[in-house]
Amino acid sequence: MHHKVTIEPFRIKVVEQIKLTTEEERKGYLEKAHNNPFLLTSDQVIIDLLTDSGTSAMSANQWGGIMRGDESYAGARSWQRMEKEILDLTGYPYILPTHQGRAAEHLLYNHLGGKGKVFISNTHFDTTRANIEFSQATAIDCLVPEGKQPELVYPFKGNLDTVQLLENIEKYGAKNIGAVILTVTNNSGGGQPVSMQNAREVSQICKDHGLLLILDACRIAENSYFIKQREKGFEDKTYREIAQEMFALADGCIMSAKKDGLVNMGGFLAIKDLELAIKCRTVLIITEGYSTYGGLSGRDMEAISIGLQEVFDPDYLHYRIKSTTYLGNKLDKLGIPTIRPVGGHAVYIDAKAFYPHIPPHQFPGQAMVCEMYLKSGIRSCEIGSVMFGKYDDKGNLIPPPLELVRLAIPRRVYTVSHIDYVIETFVELLKEREQVNGYKITYEPHFLRHFTAHFEKI
Ligand code: F0G
Repeated sequence: MHHKVTIEPFRIKVVEQIKLTTEEERKGYLEKAHNNPFLLTSDQVIIDLLTDSGTSAMSANQWGGIMRGDESYAGARSWQRMEKEILDLTGYPYILPTHQGRAAEHLLYNHLGGKGKVFISNTHFDTTRANIEFSQATAIDCLVPEGKQPELVYPFKGNLDTVQLLENIEKYGAKNIGAVILTVTNNSGGGQPVSMQNAREVSQICKDHGLLLILDACRIAENSYFIKQREKGFEDKTYREIAQEMFALADGCIMSAKKDGLVNMGGFLAIKDLELAIKCRTVLIITEGYSTYGGLSGRDMEAISIGLQEVFDPDYLHYRIKSTTYLGNKLDKLGIPTIRPVGGHAVYIDAKAFYPHIPPHQFPGQAMVCEMYLKSGIRSCEIGSVMFGKYDDKGNLIPPPLELVRLAIPRRVYTVSHIDYVIETFVELLKEREQVNGYKITYEPHFLRHFTAHFEKI
């Protein structure tokens, strides 16, 4: 029989109680959190779609691995296992374990960056951009035009625009380019995939100009799923083979294992170049830990080795992408403006289109995030002017092109009834959308302000 229903390909072995709250209670919680859901405690949240990062449910196999973790300071068995797994997957011989993705970013981009240096990416994720700018270098996004039109259906909206890449190489000079970074999938652009063809073209341009190409591979299994489904010539390859082919096109990768590593903490930098590895390893030992554990305990490394295998399981990936698509398609049917087609790890809502009466400087995304929380205790993340807005010399906001709200789906955590609860919430938000007001910022730090800023309703 052909089944229309895609089931979760797992049974639940351990449960974690969700504390249910009332709308009245949530009003008080949000006020205390200065209208910034990042400042809520997790007990105040019913369904947490803030991020898919570090929120995965580990398998029984991974928990078994946790018990086998070898906590030796140097040369632990768990390290050897993780190193072997990453080498096999990526083909990069020099592997530096870090406590999460941004620590790996800091090692690499602080070394390659500095004043006058330029980095080019399809879209820099916020920590990537922050690490580059922290080194006083410049981060330039070169996304294909298709990726900037939320409703346009196009198979690879995460592709890097090679015309703009060449223009920037011409403009800044190859010697001033720290690296080209291909983020798969393109988180900030809607979790949209990058095609192998695009990766090949970018790789060739980098080779021609002597540029370093780095993959931000934290969702490379999800990207491989899209390639197999959408790109000609990959129908008969395994997801892992597709990922391996993409790794082979680059000079190294950064991976936050908190995504497609299916773990709660961990990351790594893996590169081909020995000299670069030695430079980064020195800083790794000073800031993270000795080179055979970096920022990780043996049990973390054990869980990562297993997670990196499980994530390429066809049944898992099918369920994973199908369940994200389920939410996105239902919202689309309701008439909620979302980034189409649905990406891999999250559904992105166009808050500017949903609340056309709220201008970017009053943060329509923040308004939606707060409304969702108040209505149903759902926590989500603004990806718009709060996260990426800049100021001009006069202190006026320069908004990014899109005002998005991200509903990120933790891996193997929520069932379809949790997702139906989210969909139900949007039916309500639709009815009341004209009554919703924007917000103003009353406190903000200089870097990564979305984490700690305070907001006041206008
Ligand atoms: N690169 C990308 C594309 C990411 O999405 C993230 C994290 C990182 C790097 C940094 O990794 O968190 O382990 O330090 N993204 C999370 C998110 C935070 O919610 O999308 P990290």
